[in-house]
Amino acid sequence: MQILDGKIVSQAVKESLKQKTKELIQSGKKTPHLAAILVGNNGASETYVASKVKNCEEIGFKSTLIRFESTVDEQMIMDAIRKLNTDDDVDGILVQLPLPKHISEEKIINLINPDKDVDGFHPVNIGKMIQGLPTFLPATPYGILLMLEHYKIETKGKHAVVIGRSNIVGRPISILLSRNTYPGNCTVTICHSHTHNLKEICLQGDIIVAALGKPEFLTADMVKENAVVVDVGITRIPDASKKSGFAIKGDVDFANVSPKCSYITPVPGGVGMMTIAALLMNTFAASQLKN
Ligand code: GUN
Repeated sequence: MQILDGKIVSQAVKESLKQKTKELIQSGKKTPHLAAILVGNNGASETYVASKVKNCEEIGFKSTLIRFESTVDEQMIMDAIRKLNTDDDVDGILVQLPLPKHISEEKIINLINPDKDVDGFHPVNIGKMIQGLPTFLPATPYGILLMLEHYKIETKGKHAVVIGRSNIVGRPISILLSRNTYPGNCTVTICHSHTHNLKEICLQGDIIVAALGKPEFLTADMVKENAVVVDVGITRIPDASKKSGFAIKGDVDFANVSPKCSYITPVPGGVGMMTIAALLMNTFAASQLKN
């Protein structure tokens, strides 16, 4: 069993971006700039956005964080996006999800200029992704692809079982793994809360992507020998022994599943770290659309 180490791969991606950014600036081009919008005080969202901003700084990008109270009017967020859309210095825009219930995520995402949509959530970019055209891939699925690529994991002809059909992870990774490229060319089954025979389907998976948000859902009896297991879960569980007051749990029962796997991602230290690396890749690519 080999660990797919998100720390090592994300560091490699970041080092490469840091070097490219340095060269870009030395050649007189503008510094890549990511603008993040954070609404409210959701603990997990605060942590993710802080980490995105910190990572930008580490590799030499510019970043702007725009914060709103959870009671903010939808129009105020829309005005902020309109401003960022027309600001030539801003290359990438992300709105951290989830948003408070009274704000339409659809309206907000649709307003972002697709050329600055570094989360790859705009319908135009999702359409391009489905057609296999160059675009910004959603960060978590993109991070998974970068990880599979780094470890040269064979995907052609493999049966990939994806558990979860969210717009952010399950659905896009199922599409990406089916594309006629590497990593890809998988036969993909997408499973969800209404799937019958989930265990039998998972047992057919050469690659299993667990992205349903239920701690330790995927157990050893659902996984065949030598499977590649990618754990996208990041649920916070109260844990008084931790300084933060919580522990992070993945969707996979790692202790019992890992001995059966050829490769497996840990939580934390797996896919989560790749998500930010992928976002930085997209932001750099967005800056190249202008440079
Ligand atoms: N919430 C959970 N994952 C993501 C992500 O990749 N991007 C944004 N903007 N919000 C998220």
